[in-house]
Amino acid sequence: MLWHTFFAAVAVAWIQQAASTPGVDQWITALVSSNSSLLSWPTHFTQDIVPKQIHSHNDYWREVPLLTALSLGVQSVEADVWFINGTLFVGHEEAALTPNRTFESLYLQPIMQILDMMNPRNNFTSNATSANGPFDTASTTPLQLLVDMKTDGNATLPPVLQALQPLRSAGYLTTFMNGTVQSSAVTVIGTGNTPLEGITALQPRDVFFDAPLASLNSSNFDHTISPIASTDWGSVVGWSGIGNPTDAQRNMIQTLINDAHTRGIQARFWDTPGWPVRARENVWTELLNDGADWLNADDLVAASRF
Ligand SMILES: *[C@@H]1O[C@H](CO)[C@@H](O)[C@H](O)[C@H]1NC(C)=O
Ligand SMILES: *[C@@H]1O[C@H](CO)[C@@H](O)[C@H](O)[C@H]1NC(C)=O
Ligand SMILES: *[C@@H]1O[C@H](CO)[C@@H](O)[C@H](O)[C@H]1NC(C)=O
Ligand SMILES: *[C@@H]1O[C@H](CO)[C@@H](O)[C@H](O)[C@H]1NC(C)=O
Ligand SMILES: *[C@@H]1O[C@H](CO)[C@@H](O)[C@H](O)[C@H]1NC(C)=O
Ligand SMILES: *[C@@H]1O[C@H](CO)[C@@H](O)[C@H](O)[C@H]1NC(C)=O
Ligand SMILES: *[C@@H]1O[C@H](CO)[C@@H](O)[C@H](O)[C@H]1NC(C)=O
Ligand SMILES: *[C@@H]1O[C@H](CO)[C@@H](O)[C@H](O)[C@H]1NC(C)=O
Repeated sequence: MLWHTFFAAVAVAWIQQAASTPGVDQWITALVSSNSSLLSWPTHFTQDIVPKQIHSHNDYWREVPLLTALSLGVQSVEADVWFINGTLFVGHEEAALTPNRTFESLYLQPIMQILDMMNPRNNFTSNATSANGPFDTASTTPLQLLVDMKTDGNATLPPVLQALQPLRSAGYLTTFMNGTVQSSAVTVIGTGNTPLEGITALQPRDVFFDAPLASLNSSNFDHTISPIASTDWGSVVGWSGIGNPTDAQRNMIQTLINDAHTRGIQARFWDTPGWPVRARENVWTELLNDGADWLNADDLVAASRF
């Protein structure tokens, strides 16, 4: 009885108060138009963006590389890197290089800035044992950075390792050390001319190797060397995306994905059909149904909405 009286009194007080105060919508409107410090938090740079296992093919072709991909939740980007006269330039071919478009300016500096934003150093974070990745909604999800070495691999790997030093010192690089892979904010993977011997010799290892997906059985790759393995869609699978894949084509996709997964490696097919749109989407659907880990995309908006 006493309790009933108490609850009734509380309910009346609450209703009276509600009648004299703004509704939640008005409250939100007032807060949003104010300058309140409650409205922002240190890591809101990628607020509301949900990361997706999409690889931004030829990312540096976009007007704003890297940031466009991140804004769409794309978790993997690729830079074609040329080591010329002591500088790492970024571009698809030599004719596309300019003095200012470098690995540092287009990728490493902005990544460093973003990660510093996502990893504020203050009294609340002093005990943090691992770094946040670029996505506020999924802080343990790393950015995957593919470095496609276009110039001689043995000559290009050392300057790439050196350029990564600021990220390394900050603890932002996924690293294989003492028998375990410690995931961090960025996982760097060499492809193109990246020398396998150079990667396997790294101790600790914070640049990994894009393994050949179609020939994993005849090699010794595992996830400590290769978080991912890739292959060319056209020559290995060959389905145009129009009509249905043949049993042999589907079997090939599933076999390669399985070969990767049994080694703890993720599977990626590049140069999947981009057009017509229906063919592109048929291939993406087939890949997801078959367990592929990454969608390779030129049209990031389409892929992120897929
Ligand atoms: C918002 O806050 C900043 C810093 O606290 C101040 O400089 C600015 O004048 C404020 N703006 C408004 C519209 O109150
Ligand atoms: C590289 O250096 C050489 C010799 O200094 C110079 O002639 C050439 O223009 C440079 N190339 C580039 C792309 O800077
Ligand atoms: C290249 O960068 C330098 C230094 O930041 C700047 O002065 C110059 O205008 C830039 N060149 C172009 C073509 O953007
Ligand atoms: C962090 O903690 C120290 C020691 O308790 C204190 O003096 C300092 O003001 C705090 N800093 C902030 C930004 O709260
Ligand atoms: C960090 O660890 C110290 C020592 O265990 C503890 O006193 C402090 O409260 C911790 N700080 C945070 C933000 O958890
Ligand atoms: C790169 O160096 C390794 C040994 O360090 C050597 O075996 C290999 O042939 C070199 N590759 C090229 C393309 O020079
Ligand atoms: C890895 O092993 C080395 C020596 O073998 C040791 O000094 C280091 O602390 C170890 N690192 C970690 C993260 O366990
Ligand atoms: C790799 O080996 C597995 C197990 O023997 C086999 O099932 C699979 O077909 C092989 N992959 C390829 C591409 O031949």
